[in-house]
Amino acid sequence: MGFLEEIKRRRTFAIISHPDAGKTTLTEKLLLFGGAIQVAGAVKSNKIKKTATSDFMEIEKQRGISVATSVMGFEYKGLKINILDTPGHQDFAEDTYRTLTAVDSVIVVIDVAKGVEMQTEKLVKVCRMRDTPIIVFINKLDRDGKDGIDLLDEIETKLGLNVCPLSWPIGMGPEFEGVYNIYEKKLNLFQAHGKQTQEETVQINDVFGEELDKHVSKRLANELREELETVQAVYPEFDKQAYLDAQLSPVFFGSAINNFGVKELLDCFIEVAPSPLPSHTEERLIKPEENKFSGFVFKIHANIDPKHRDRIAFVRICSGQFERNKNYLHVRSTKKLKFSNPTAFMAEKKSVVDVAYPGDIVGLYDSGKFKIGDTLTEGEKLHFKGIPSFSPELFRYVENANPLKAKQLAKGLDQLMDEGVAQLFKQSMNNRKIIGTVGALQFEVIQYRLEHEYGAKCRYEPMALYKACWISGDDVNKLEEFKRKKLRFMAVDKDGRDVFLAESAWMLQMAQQDFPGIQFHFKSEF
Ligand code: G4P
Repeated sequence: MGFLEEIKRRRTFAIISHPDAGKTTLTEKLLLFGGAIQVAGAVKSNKIKKTATSDFMEIEKQRGISVATSVMGFEYKGLKINILDTPGHQDFAEDTYRTLTAVDSVIVVIDVAKGVEMQTEKLVKVCRMRDTPIIVFINKLDRDGKDGIDLLDEIETKLGLNVCPLSWPIGMGPEFEGVYNIYEKKLNLFQAHGKQTQEETVQINDVFGEELDKHVSKRLANELREELETVQAVYPEFDKQAYLDAQLSPVFFGSAINNFGVKELLDCFIEVAPSPLPSHTEERLIKPEENKFSGFVFKIHANIDPKHRDRIAFVRICSGQFERNKNYLHVRSTKKLKFSNPTAFMAEKKSVVDVAYPGDIVGLYDSGKFKIGDTLTEGEKLHFKGIPSFSPELFRYVENANPLKAKQLAKGLDQLMDEGVAQLFKQSMNNRKIIGTVGALQFEVIQYRLEHEYGAKCRYEPMALYKACWISGDDVNKLEEFKRKKLRFMAVDKDGRDVFLAESAWMLQMAQQDFPGIQFHFKSEF
């Protein structure tokens, strides 16, 4: 197969959801369709068991197991599909945000009973910022839940998506009889036989004809007709270009655990979802079909076992062909690096790859050279955009608890920040170090890892901070004046950029009012 065909047949995407909506179940069903796994329950996903939510060591262990499922590749109908797994635990949201920089599209799973939940809102916001095409799967139709139209309203208002249902449920909960595939004009009937469920498909070109009544109970058939009339009147027809432009999201209904509605979702997905898209760098747009290789690191996974201190850097290939044992430029350090064991992922199996193509993810063994956002090329000095840090939400001062180990502490903090575990700021007035995180768990993770991996000890001191935001302004004098007047609240991030530490929402609002020439940013890239 030629280089261009290899690119065209790739689909790299992530499934995102609020924990418990059914992301793991859906992932597993997709892998079963692809023949990548043979039995349900084979995927040890990034999902963190509920019982372990307060035990971070257990969580880290589970994260360790999940390295293998960070990327799940499989073949389906001649396509190479790469699913990137995202951690469900909200304390690792930053990990998920970064993974979203490495995909070309996403599927959002929503629980029919719970509707749009908080984590879904946050994640979809990140996708919208990047204009990522989104397909929505409404799950758990075998349980009672919200009315279909109400749910679509909720998706439109809370997630800001324009939707277009491609299937419609017929009843739900104990009365669930199936879904009507609007896209293909087919009726998929749901039949439960004890614990076993079966799907039967019937072609129904006209839902107003008698054929429908032969398969669906009268009341539900009439309900379906009425609802489809509303759907047709209210929602636009599916338009592939609008979907690719992230202006329209097709919606499917089903039940992942019963494997119902999943095949329709997958078949539509492979038909409409984009193959690898161009990537933006500070210098220029990179097209996947360019001959020369380029890629960026979007995730670093450290091994928590002290006997195996290696890390795996996950690289998304953006253009050209990545080859084993070839020298590539590590743009930040200007060093040439070559990799003898690049790893590819197929479902739960890992294997060494000789060649990988745009859209693929390779895992590179790393002893500490890589940082999130790093670029590898064949020589060109490129810097990929769109891998920002987000304003953290929790802050603590970090102090050295063992004066003899100051160097180890500095090194450990540096490396953990490069991995993207948290963000480090240095207060301008007194050089005190502040750690900012998205979840409380990270503080424990850092403390534990500093001790076990670097032999350093740290102590935290509380600090009440509402938000850290990056500042910029066209007028240098005004910027300097701001920094002088707000010196007590100024810090720099690890790249030396100015950050304003707002103690409260009110303080931030006042600063915005008093200094109209200054821009306040909630992500590091602006
Ligand atoms: P997540 O990765 O999004 O966190 O969700 P996951 O797939 O683990 O699903 C969360 C729970 O919802 C699981 O039950 C799963 O079996 C159930 N589930 C998934 N899809 C459906 C569906 O279509 N219908 C119904 N009724 N349930 C569904 P659990 O009891 O938490 O775990 P388990 O013991 O079943 O693994």
